[in-house]
Formats: sequence, C-alpha cells, structure tokens
Amino acid sequence: MKDEPIKILLIEDNPGDVNLVKEMLAETETLFELTHVEKLGKVLGVGTLNFDVILLDLSLPDAYGLDTVIKMRSAMPNIPIVVMSGLGDVELAIKALHEGAQDYLVKGQADSNLLVRSVRYAIERKQAEEELRRAHDELEIRVKERTAELVSANEALLAEIAERKKTQEALFRSEASLAEAQRIAHLGNWEWNISTNEIYWSDEIYRIFGITPQQFGATYEAFLGCIHPDDRELVREAVDGAMSGIPYNIDHRVVLPDGAVRFVNEQGRVTFNENGMPVRMLGTVQDITEKKEKEIRLIMTERLAALGQMASGVAHEINNPLATVAACAEGLLNRIRQGRFDRELFENYLKIIDEEVVRCKAITTSMLSFVRKTSYEKRDVDINFLVNKTLELVNFQGRLKDVEVRKKYDGMLIARGSEGELRQVLLIIILNSLDAMEDRGVLTIGTGVGDNHVFIEISDTGPGIPPELRQKIFDSFFSTKSEKGGIGLGLSIAHKIIKDHNGDIFVASDGNGTTFRILLPK
Ligand SMILES: Nc1ncnc2c1ncn2[C@@H]1O[C@H](COP(=O)(O)OP(=O)(O)O)[C@@H](O)[C@H]1O
Ligand SMILES: [Mg+2]
Repeated sequence: MKDEPIKILLIEDNPGDVNLVKEMLAETETLFELTHVEKLGKVLGVGTLNFDVILLDLSLPDAYGLDTVIKMRSAMPNIPIVVMSGLGDVELAIKALHEGAQDYLVKGQADSNLLVRSVRYAIERKQAEEELRRAHDELEIRVKERTAELVSANEALLAEIAERKKTQEALFRSEASLAEAQRIAHLGNWEWNISTNEIYWSDEIYRIFGITPQQFGATYEAFLGCIHPDDRELVREAVDGAMSGIPYNIDHRVVLPDGAVRFVNEQGRVTFNENGMPVRMLGTVQDITEKKEKEIRLIMTERLAALGQMASGVAHEINNPLATVAACAEGLLNRIRQGRFDRELFENYLKIIDEEVVRCKAITTSMLSFVRKTSYEKRDVDINFLVNKTLELVNFQGRLKDVEVRKKYDGMLIARGSEGELRQVLLIIILNSLDAMEDRGVLTIGTGVGDNHVFIEISDTGPGIPPELRQKIFDSFFSTKSEKGGIGLGLSIAHKIIKDHNGDIFVASDGNGTTFRILLPK
C-alpha cells in the first residue's frame, strides 16, 4: 500500500479549488494519483470506480449540499468520502458526516498536511469500518447459522419429546390393558431376582393370594409362606428343578389370610448368565379354583353315577347274606317257640348270622369308602392295596364269578396321590374291562416300578377297541354302551385324574383284548 500511489478522485467545479488541491498534494512526499471531474454526473452510473478516496465539493453544478453526499455514497458505498465545504457550510459538513462522509475540510483552512492526514484517515477509517462491517456481517451470518441450528435442534428435541410421550402413552396403555387382561384371565406374572432374593408380583397375583404389597415380604420365603403347607414340598421341588434348567408347570394351593384355599396353576423358568449361574426366574400364576371345583364336581358326579350302576349288583350281593341271616333267624325263632334250646345249634346259627352281617358291612363300607368326598390331598399310597380294594368292591357286585383274576404284583409299590381318585380310576378301567368281556374271561392286573414311575397294567380278554376309536375313548361322553346306560365320562375323568397326578395313561388293543397302562410318578 505504501509504494502504491493513493488514487484520489476530486469532484470540484471551481478551477481555483482544483489547483489548490493539486498544489497541496504536490507538497507532500506521499504519492498521489489525482483524477478530477467537475460534475457528479460524470461518475454516477459508470459502474465501479477504482479509487481510494473521493474529495467531494458540496456545491456542484448538478448536485448541492447533503444530496451530493447521499448520491455519491449510494453510488459508491465502499469508497471513503472527504467533503470539501465552504466556510459557511460547516453545519452542512457535520450532517455530511452523519450521512457517511469520513471527514470534512473547510476550503481555505486546510493545508497540505491536513489534507493528507484527512485523506489517509478517511481511507483507514473506511477500511476499519469495512472490516468491522464484514466482521459484523460474518457474525450475523454465524448467529443466523447457529440460530438455525438451534431451531432445528430444538425442533428435533420437541419431536423426540413428542415421540417419547407417545411411546410412554402407548406403554401406559399396554400396561393398563395387560393388567386388565390379567384381571380377566385371573393370571398374574412374577419375577424373582435370585441374587437379591427380591420378588416382583403383578397386581393380579396379589389379588389371587389375597394380600397387599405391604403384607408381602417379597422374598422367596414369604412366597412359600403363602402356599398350602402340604404343597410346599411340591413347589420347592419344582423350583429346585427349574434351577437346574427344567421349566415347571404345576398346580398347587395357596392359603389366603382368611384361611380360604385357592387352586393355582403355576409355571416358571430360570434364566442363566454366561457362567451358567441362575440369575432370574420368571413365571405366571393362574387362579384355577373355579375350574378345579368344576372338575371335582364332575369327578363326584361320575363316581355317583358309577355307584348307581353298581347298586343293583351290590344289592343282589347283599341279598344273599341277608337271606342267610333271615333263614338262621327264622330257624332260631322256631326253636325258641318250640322250646328247644340246642346250645350248639344256637351258637352255629348265631356265628353264621355274625359272619354274614360282617360280610354285608364289608360291602357297604367298601361302597361308602368309594363315594367319600374326593380330597385333593396327595399322600403316599400303597398301589397293590388299592387294586385289591377295588377288586373287592367289584367282587361284591358279583361280577367276578366267571372271571379269572390274575394278579402280578411286584413287591410293595408306593406312589404319591389321592387315594380316592386313584381308586376311582382303577374302578373305571376294571368295570370297562368287565363290560367288554361281558363278565367272563381273564382279567390280568400287573404292577411294577420303572425308572421314575410306578405302573399299573390292566388287561382283559375282551373284543378289543377298533383303531379308529382308540383316540376317542378318552373324550367326554364318548360311549359305545349308551343303550346299556354308559355315559362316556369314565375314561375322560380317569385321564384327567392321572394327568393331575403328573402321570400318564395309555391304551393298547388288538383282537385278543385290551390293556390300559397307567404311569404314576414315584
Ligand atoms: N377294556 C375295553 N375294551 C373295549 N372297549 C373299551 C374298553 N374300555 C373302554 N372301552 C370303550 O371306551 C368307551 C368309553 O369308556 P368310558 O369313558 O368308561 O365310558 P362308558 O363306559 O360309559 O361307555 C366305552 O364305551 C368302550 O367303547
Ligand atoms: Mg366306563
């Protein structure tokens, strides 16, 4: 910049003033390149001019006063203007500064130094102004950019908040409908954090167990405390099994604080960490009390129906001893009337009466023990004893007269179960066998032990079950004996009872007869 001459445009109509300026510039050491025009019109509208500064007279032939500055500024906003005014125009000169002129010189008072300084300052100030403006513009752009960024970030944030709200609402809704579904199905879910021994229960479980979160300790021990004492072992075993990776599905009872008992179906499984350690256990509890009660009613109904069917046979069997008793009594009466007291004969007759009465009592006891209200209790039962008792009841009906009963018992067998229900199952199967054989043939009953189970096999020498019917016989109300009073509930109930004992029941049949095989856990 220093080596380059300063390019000045002088706009002045007065030749004297022009010469004055030229002289003043000539006096300095600074290099100048002066261009001179007399009118504003000469420079307006010619496009961009390449000058460092404009010296502008305020009274020109084609412009006057402030107007001159305004026109010049708007035509060439980037070139600094130094106004040259007459003595009387000082006020005007100051206004010119407001309009963007950089400086003013009063004609006749300015010397060479002042002119040069003014020109230099004007240029520098203009440059500083420009720079400031540029910086300001840049800042403004940046602010705008940042603002735009902030606006879009803000919009994104708002969108995210709205999205989250929606998700949360959806979550609330699905949680609410889950709770509603659980309430309707009487099914709750739970989670057990094994390492901290903390248990989470859904609301429905609290409802089923009849307690409040405040009453529940939320630990495994607190949970066991809610379980019927007789079922605790079963639950504990199932949970232990789950710990070694076997999911469970069991029915057990819970005791409510008011002493009421509910039946629940409980399922659970354990999740393990990468080291194979059990971490969490998840599961469900469903209130099946109503279903269980219906089942129990159905079992009782079938039992009473079977009893009804047995009644005529039993009555017939009781009639024989009763007839004997009556005959003995009559004989004794006759002797008394005739005054004949044969002590030995009396003793014999009374012995017979006693024996026959005992027999009758055994029959009624056997029947009564069969109809006793079913109990859910499962305890150790002696399987061979049960089979014998059932055969005895059938015998009391007189149905084994022409049947050869073969027993193949394998030592003493103990299984866990409900005695009344298992007796019912045996009776259902044995009576079906006798029906099929029309009370004549061979009935073989075998018992034994397998790996984890005890088995009972009942075979007959009847006509067998056609293959297409084998699947149907366990359905409720399937019977091929409707005309003879069959109602078709027997095997469906037997199946239900065995499943409820976690056992299984199978049938095999051919033209030589039928075999039912029952498996019960040991
Ligand atoms: N040992 C058997 N031999 C042949 N058919 C059998 C035998 N056991 C059951 N069934 C068939 O299964 C059907 C269903 O038995 P069940 O459920 O006890 O009802 P119900 O005895 O009242 O007919 C019987 O009607 C019969 O057709
Ligand atoms: Mg039957």
